[in-house]
Amino acid sequence: MISLVVLISGTGSNLRALLEAASDAEYPARIVAVGADRDAPGLAHAEEFGVPTFTVPYTSFESREAWGQALLEQIRAWNPDLLVLSGLMRLLPASVVDALAPNIINTHPAYLPEFPGAHAVRDAIAAGASESGASIIVVDNGVDTGSIIVQERVPVVEGDTEQTLHERIKPVERRLLVQTVLDIADGLDLRTV
Ligand code: GAR
Repeated sequence: MISLVVLISGTGSNLRALLEAASDAEYPARIVAVGADRDAPGLAHAEEFGVPTFTVPYTSFESREAWGQALLEQIRAWNPDLLVLSGLMRLLPASVVDALAPNIINTHPAYLPEFPGAHAVRDAIAAGASESGASIIVVDNGVDTGSIIVQERVPVVEGDTEQTLHERIKPVERRLLVQTVLDIADGLDLRTV
């Protein structure tokens, strides 16, 4: 059984998928806490499942580094085996990544290395791509440059908007994320992916 801290910024649909998976006694991971960099609506999912939450507001700190240190302190209080970035829309400072690597994974709504960054779905539409995808990666100090653990293609269809494409990608992300956490609990070595 492994323990997870999950970080979010938004609606937390991927978080919810993990919470649901982890409520099955057979699933080999437990979410010990959920954190956010803002007053994220997705924290309500954690509360519904009785999982403790914490918020370290990015805008309350003078620098990314100071925010990162406060966040790291909160994460460490839970001593998780794995940190899951599940829609966290901030870059972690290198000091935080270095402190926890390689045990940090991120879910991203594109087929990396295509469309890294905060606007992956918008960028795929703007590029006129015929397909995009979902990727689960190990977090390193670049922007979505870490080793790819698993990824899957998702088609872009005629008339897609950022929203409709994202709604097609998210169920794929949820499935890949739940499977990846299971694989890590089963011994997948994040140093060698
Ligand atoms: C997900 O699609 C996730 O991949 C993306 O934010 C969404 C969060 O959705 N993350 C990024 O774009 C990070 N660069 P959710 O809050 O409903 O899980």
